[in-house]
Amino acid sequence: RRATALWLAVAASASAAPPAPQDTLHAAGPQAAHIGNLWNFTLGLCTLVFVLVLGACLVALWRAPKVAQREAPDMTSLAQPERRVHRVVGWGVGVSIVGLLALLAADVFTTRALARLPLRDAVNIELVGHQWWWEARYQYDDPSKNFVTANELHIPVGRPVVITLRSNDVIHSLWVPNLHGKRDLIPGRTAVLRFQADKPGTYRSQCAEFCGLEHAMMALLVVAEPSPVYEAWAMHQNAPATAPADALAQRGQQVFQGKTCVMCHTVSGTEAQGKFGPDLTHLASRSTIAAGMFPNNRGHLGGWIADPQSLKPGVNMPSNALEPDDLQALLAYLETLK
Ligand code: CUA
Repeated sequence: RRATALWLAVAASASAAPPAPQDTLHAAGPQAAHIGNLWNFTLGLCTLVFVLVLGACLVALWRAPKVAQREAPDMTSLAQPERRVHRVVGWGVGVSIVGLLALLAADVFTTRALARLPLRDAVNIELVGHQWWWEARYQYDDPSKNFVTANELHIPVGRPVVITLRSNDVIHSLWVPNLHGKRDLIPGRTAVLRFQADKPGTYRSQCAEFCGLEHAMMALLVVAEPSPVYEAWAMHQNAPATAPADALAQRGQQVFQGKTCVMCHTVSGTEAQGKFGPDLTHLASRSTIAAGMFPNNRGHLGGWIADPQSLKPGVNMPSNALEPDDLQALLAYLETLK
C-alpha cells in the first residue's frame, strides 16, 4: 500500500509540474506530437507484450505441479504435448510478426506525417555547429533583412521553420525535444530540419552527439513567440549596433577594439568583424552566454571575459588579464549591445 501511495504521489507531482523546457513528452508542435504518438503506441504495444509474456509464465508456473502429477512419465504418449507445444510456438511467432508489422507501419506513417508540414510563409535559418556553440544565420528572400546571431533562436508561433544544418568542425546533433527529433550536423554535408511551434515558450536544445570536451555545454534556446513579437525581434537583430552614448561605455568600446576581441567577434556597424566566435552585435538581448550555460548578467559576463577556461574548460576563447577599470568599461560597453 505504501508503494502505491508513493507511486501516486510521484504521478501527481509529475502531472502538476509545468512542462519542462526540454521534454519529449510535452509536444509544443505537430512534429513533436507525431513522434510522441509513435512513442505512446510503441510503449503501449510493448507493455501489452510484457504483460502477456509475464502472465503466460505465471500460468505455466502455477500449472506445472498439476501437469507433472497428471502426466506421469508415460513415454508412449509424447505426441499430445508436442502438438500443444507446436501450437503455442505457432501463436507466439504469429503474434510477434503482427506486432512487429504494426510497429513498422506506425514508423512509416510517422515518417510520412513528419514530411507533410506545409512550408508556406516559413522562416529560414542556417544553423552552424561549432565547438561548442551555435551560429544562427536568418535568411530572407530579401537579403538586406538577413542577420546573424548565436545560441538563441527566436521563432514565430504557428509558422513553419526550416533549419538548414551545417557543421564547422566535427559532428554535432540538434535536438529540440519539444519540437522535433534529432538531426545530425555532419561536416561537409547539409541536413534540413523542419518544425513548427504551436505554443509560445522557451524550449531548450542540447547537442546530442559527442563533439569533444565541452559537448555537455553546448545548448541552444528556442524562443517561440507570437508573430508580431518575432518580427519586431528580427527587425531589431538586423539593425547594426548603436554607438554607446556614455563615456564609460565609449571607453569600453576602445578596450574591445584594442584587445584581441575583434579578431574573433563581429559587432555589426563597427570595426569588429571577426568571424571565429559568436556575433556580439546584440549580445545583451540574449538571455544566456557560453551556449546556454550561464545567465547573461554582469557577474557571469565579467568572469567569462577574465577567465573563460575556468567556466568552460577547453573553450576557444582565451583568458583576458584586464585592469579592473578596463573590465568595468568593457562590461558597460557590452551591456549597450541590446
Ligand atoms: Cu556539439 Cu556535442
